[in-house]
Amino acid sequence: MADAPRTVLISGCSSGIGLELAVQLAHDPRQRYQVVATMRDLGKKGALEAAAGEALGQTLAVAQLDVCSDESVAQCLSCIQGGEVDVLVNNAGVGLVGPLEGLSLAAMQNVFDTNFFGAVRLVRAVLPGMKKRRKGHIVVVSSVMGLQGVVFNEVYAASKFALEGFFESLAVQLLQFNIFITLVEPGPVVTDFEGKLLEQVSTADFPDTDPDTLHYFRDFYLPASRELFRSVGQSPQDVAQTNARYTPLAALKAVDPSGSLYVRTSHRLLFRWTRFLNLGLRCLACGCLRIRIWPR
Ligand SMILES: NC(=O)c1ccc[n+]([C@@H]2O[C@H](COP(=O)([O-])OP(=O)(O)OC[C@H]3O[C@@H](n4cnc5c(N)ncnc54)[C@H](OP(=O)(O)O)[C@@H]3O)[C@@H](O)[C@H]2O)c1
Repeated sequence: MADAPRTVLISGCSSGIGLELAVQLAHDPRQRYQVVATMRDLGKKGALEAAAGEALGQTLAVAQLDVCSDESVAQCLSCIQGGEVDVLVNNAGVGLVGPLEGLSLAAMQNVFDTNFFGAVRLVRAVLPGMKKRRKGHIVVVSSVMGLQGVVFNEVYAASKFALEGFFESLAVQLLQFNIFITLVEPGPVVTDFEGKLLEQVSTADFPDTDPDTLHYFRDFYLPASRELFRSVGQSPQDVAQTNARYTPLAALKAVDPSGSLYVRTSHRLLFRWTRFLNLGLRCLACGCLRIRIWPR
């Protein structure tokens, strides 16, 4: 007899990775999942519903959930049959880029409220049920920036590092309850995420930032970031797989766990060897560099 479908709750499904994941799971040919695809603003559900097609109302339901609100989380869980979530996917997240001196503390706190405390809030809500049933899976969409910092992304990276430490610690205890944690660390993914950040950057004037720092941000970081997304960005459809094109960049930290090699290499590539950076990114995208330096 086939197992009953597992209830999968995903946060942040109005666009990007969350939307794609919800649709892919809902179309599972073996119908193993009953997807509760959530978003904070149901006014944005059109794209998800269109992509879900005939799965809508069958293997996929749309629900409101703001990960920054206790009431919203409680309300969402109360609408799930039996209140049982078998798989929780913490996907909702926001970015923040720019010179530190020009960002408000409120904006920084919003990043932690969403990316870190949003995930903690959801986990606390589903964990008692999972523990009682001695069964569960928690998936966390972290980032490669949860493994290595990236210039002008200090607060975002810190929120993802926080997730890594939190869930790595929790994973040990949860094995006692047959509950598993998966941390997913995508490199650049071409979604609304980058667009929202660029919009934020274009309207921000970064007060209290000295001209040199602004110059480094606008004339070095921003063009390099655009080139990075253009060259090695994945689509949200294939983000579930490892982005082999980005792997050599992530490997710098593995080669030298002190972080020094990564920091020095990033610094030289961004500020001194800018032409080589663009060329290198294009080589990573076409695969020729990887074939030369990477063992098969
Ligand atoms: N794109 C990348 O390059 C990349 C790389 C590594 C990791 N990630 C991570 O992947 C996850 C998904 O990002 P994405 O690329 O798919 O970007 P996206 O298209 O902007 O999706 C982010 C989702 O999070 C939602 N969200 C934001 N605040 C929320 C809140 N308080 N409550 C509930 N939902 C909220 C957004 O809803 P609204 O539409 O209402 O804003 C949106 O649905 C994020 O955790 C991000 O950090 C992205």
